[in-house]
Amino acid sequence: MRGVFLLFVLGTLYGCNKPYDSDCSTNPGLFDAVNFNIGVAVSLTELENNTGYATIVKQQFNQITPENAFKPERLQPQEGTFSFEEAKQLLAWAANEGKEVHGHCLVWHNQLPAWMQNFEGDRQAWIALMKNHISTVVAELGSVKSWDVVNEAFEDDGSFRESIWYRHIGPEYIEMAFEFAHEANSDALLFYNDYNLASKPKKLDAVLAHLRQLVNKGVAVHGIGLQLHINIKSPGKGALEKAVEGCIGSGLRIHFSEIDISVNPSGGALGHLENKLNKQAQTVEQLTQIYLSIPPAQQFAMSFWGVSDANSWIPAYYGREDYPLLFDQNYRAKPAYCALRSALGQ
Ligand code: XIL
Repeated sequence: MRGVFLLFVLGTLYGCNKPYDSDCSTNPGLFDAVNFNIGVAVSLTELENNTGYATIVKQQFNQITPENAFKPERLQPQEGTFSFEEAKQLLAWAANEGKEVHGHCLVWHNQLPAWMQNFEGDRQAWIALMKNHISTVVAELGSVKSWDVVNEAFEDDGSFRESIWYRHIGPEYIEMAFEFAHEANSDALLFYNDYNLASKPKKLDAVLAHLRQLVNKGVAVHGIGLQLHINIKSPGKGALEKAVEGCIGSGLRIHFSEIDISVNPSGGALGHLENKLNKQAQTVEQLTQIYLSIPPAQQFAMSFWGVSDANSWIPAYYGREDYPLLFDQNYRAKPAYCALRSALGQ
């Protein structure tokens, strides 16, 4: 018994302290070894003005997701007045560099323009508003290969989120959104995207049940995005494996979207950063192994929510010190980058 305990302690220590390289090669890029996309959330300003940033995006990733530029507040700031300049510059950049673009997102409860939030009208008027936004955006940005059509429509307990869409249209807005997007571009792959799907099994069950129902009705839903804003402790390997198993059963394409791995989820002082960065590397390694276990036909992309720790939304949004991404604030590869690289077979 004592031997087992000792092995357990040693195993745990080794797991935490296993040293990960941060001096690996960065060539060829991450996407080179696999048949699914390796994506990253980007900003046009950084791509245009920050050489270190742009070089990493060009070398390492074969897909980009505009982090904010495709959100409704940016694309339709005034009712009926669309603003596509920045979005089209991003598409031109991507076309020039041979990168695929994943569009994020058409229907969400955040980052809406004020006029949309305050819109007054009956159910039909709300449906017309949603349809006009989706149809115009999807048609105008026709080279976008895939879209997050509906983002974060469920609560952690599996109930519908009472967003403006739900309140004014009812739960059918989800189905309608997919229909409108499909009508506007029948070639695009259409995703439902949400967070906490691995840590809240009730939420995942509700999402999968809903998507299954839509697919059975013939609605063009092609994939599920598991936003992976996770941390070095949670949700853990077992929970992730279980969630992925459920997603595989749905037959949908699976997107590991919005990956960032917090090393300081509860805030406060960050002791032993090196250990935490190793734990982060171990987490990304596990994540990748799980992704590689998905049948190839269901693999879509693993995408990271930002290029380097200097660009992550986490520190500003949550007001804490954190280092959640693959490259450090000086755009140098971190242990997480090297772990990902070797897990991908490079
Ligand atoms: C975040 C962006 O990263 C921030 O720059 C912005 O201020 C707020 O939104 N879930 C999502 C993303 O689907 O769109 C969010 O992105 C992060 C949480």
